[in-house]
Amino acid sequence: MLSGKRILLIIGGGIAAYKSLDLIRRLRERGAAVTPVLTRAGEEFVTPLSVAALAGEKCYRHLFDLTDEAEMGHIELSRAADLVVVAPATADLMAKMAGGHADDLASTLLMATDKKVLIAPAMNVRMWLHRATQRNIAMLRADDIRFVGPNEGDMACGEYGPGRMAEPLEIVAGIEAMMGDGPLQGRHVVVTSGPTHEPIDPVRYIANRSSGAQGTALARALRDLGARVTFVTGPASVPPPGGVEVVQIETARQMLDAVKTALPADAVICAAAVADWRVANASGSKMKKDGSGKAPALDFAENPDILATISQMKKGRPALVVGFAAETDDVVAHATTKRERKHCDWIVANDVRPATGIMGGTENAVTLISETGAEEWPRLPKDEVARGLAARIAAALGAGG
Ligand code: C5P
Repeated sequence: MLSGKRILLIIGGGIAAYKSLDLIRRLRERGAAVTPVLTRAGEEFVTPLSVAALAGEKCYRHLFDLTDEAEMGHIELSRAADLVVVAPATADLMAKMAGGHADDLASTLLMATDKKVLIAPAMNVRMWLHRATQRNIAMLRADDIRFVGPNEGDMACGEYGPGRMAEPLEIVAGIEAMMGDGPLQGRHVVVTSGPTHEPIDPVRYIANRSSGAQGTALARALRDLGARVTFVTGPASVPPPGGVEVVQIETARQMLDAVKTALPADAVICAAAVADWRVANASGSKMKKDGSGKAPALDFAENPDILATISQMKKGRPALVVGFAAETDDVVAHATTKRERKHCDWIVANDVRPATGIMGGTENAVTLISETGAEEWPRLPKDEVARGLAARIAAALGAGG
């Protein structure tokens, strides 16, 4: 898929730069050519020699390198590639991009390019969560800069949280999705997935058994058709796909906020198993037995219905809003009523009686309910159901035609 493509890879100054050496290898083994650019800070982490040796090409470093200007000026360098990738994208590089600075080779190339840009942020969790970085992220998103990662986990600095650079193969998946000529190229799709956790107190919560498998497969299939996917996921048991923008949330209300923040979108696919109720009187501290033998009384409040809310947006409603319905009886009748009640365009219904083995299994048998009626699909692996749905979504958006 990447054969014959050229990637301009800007390596910023972060410990994750070591992963970018592997990224170069992964790109080259897929047939891509890599033009490497190393920032001044990047040179503190990896050497120009390693970068050039792995890329098999000159490693560009300085803006005022007259030989380069004679051979290939910075304007041409920024445009000769099919895609610009920044990995690791440090807080400083992102701030420069958001502010339109051009005071070194990397930032000048980013200003001068007319190509799409994918960034793989990597930084300390506090720096990622800092208001300044979050402001810059919003600006970069508005400028249609694509993101892959960061992931959550242990950091080289000993802290834990979001800020780890995406793994090389996740970045490759993101690059492939952007370089492909799939029918959803240029389209933005939001997918909700997984369960939600509704707190009872700081250590307990109400949840459900959703694994997030179908939503994850769908996000991957949409990505493979070229869509920019925002994947809003609760604490699922399967890992999120690479090459999509992952937004991790816990509660239904956070999920709704994340979906709204991700808009505008061409389609929103609500595959999450959202808790219908949350604990209204959740305790701020751990609830304790008081010795009286009396169980605590939990009050419940209804959660917002994300699917219904997005479906009924007056302004900026996505062209296609799709819900899922897991039913145990009268699948088509219930799902048809649900489609009408929530005002979504399609409902993907399935029978989750334990005898079907669908819940938690690898296969799914769905009925696609739309304005024109119910269409029963054969039992298929969840990946194939996802690919079939992604193709239908592309067709409904009139994409690629
Ligand atoms: O009403 P029910 O939960 O069966 O509807 C399922 C569909 O509605 C799914 O697509 C699910 O993601 C969505 N939903 C939602 N917000 C809720 C409840 C369900 O988006 N609070």
